[in-house]
Amino acid sequence: MADFRLALDANSPTDVRGTVRSSASVGMCNFRIYRFDPDSGERPRVDSFRLDRQSFGPMVLDALIHIKNSLDSSLTFRRSCREGICGSCAMNINGVNRLACTTSLGDLAGEIRIYPLPHMPVVKDLVPDLTHFYAQYAAVNPWLQTRTPAPPDGERLQSKPDQEKIDRPAACILCACCSTACPSYWWNSDRFLGPAALLAAYRWIVDSRDEATGERLDQLEDPFRLYRCHTIMNCTDVCPKDLNPARAIAQIKIMMLKRRL
Ligand code: SF4
Ligand code: F3S
Ligand code: FES
Repeated sequence: MADFRLALDANSPTDVRGTVRSSASVGMCNFRIYRFDPDSGERPRVDSFRLDRQSFGPMVLDALIHIKNSLDSSLTFRRSCREGICGSCAMNINGVNRLACTTSLGDLAGEIRIYPLPHMPVVKDLVPDLTHFYAQYAAVNPWLQTRTPAPPDGERLQSKPDQEKIDRPAACILCACCSTACPSYWWNSDRFLGPAALLAAYRWIVDSRDEATGERLDQLEDPFRLYRCHTIMNCTDVCPKDLNPARAIAQIKIMMLKRRL
């Protein structure tokens, strides 16, 4: 059952800090936030909060931190960098997977609805269990594999054009926005690696210094691991770093075809 909490009275002359508000500083915003505590034995619920926009910063993460610090310390979510770098604050905001720290409240219309990333087990509130997601990442061996000895100075050099091939894929922050937006991943995540892990696989397949390309492609030659991607494109649409996992997957499929010819 919904637990409705009013953080502030909209007619109150003061904000949460007790500061007298001018009429220009009054701006109320409604939040509906998914809550679930597996230890409570209770079913998940949605809590409502009505907040004065002047009481916290401009981003969704600022609102969550404000709620946790001032209204409900039990609200649980992940965050670290507040700069879109660590990937830990990924959640579903108004129906779209995004980073809470880089999503401006000013860009969201109406009530703000915040849920954990979809189709993942929930540890608590907005924290999804990413154990399987990380295991899939590890399964593509996301490190340089070589057989030839390194040059005497230890540096395996790369040309600028070769480096540019991995520049964007290597910018992935493993936030899981893409994989958890993919319907094919929702239904087949036990065997389909998903766009994030496949982007990581691509990053090493096209790395000019890597010497395990054949083995990497062999590992993906499977009806589920790669080919459960049906080019739905949600992954690329939601990536907060403007990466293109759908294109990377398509490129891997082309490499698979070419080596068969
Ligand atoms: Fe996140 Fe984009 Fe990496 Fe997917 S590809 S995990 S959405 S940064
Ligand atoms: Fe899914 Fe992206 Fe493919 S949304 S189906 S991984 S193009
Ligand atoms: Fe690091 Fe949002 S807190 S990406």
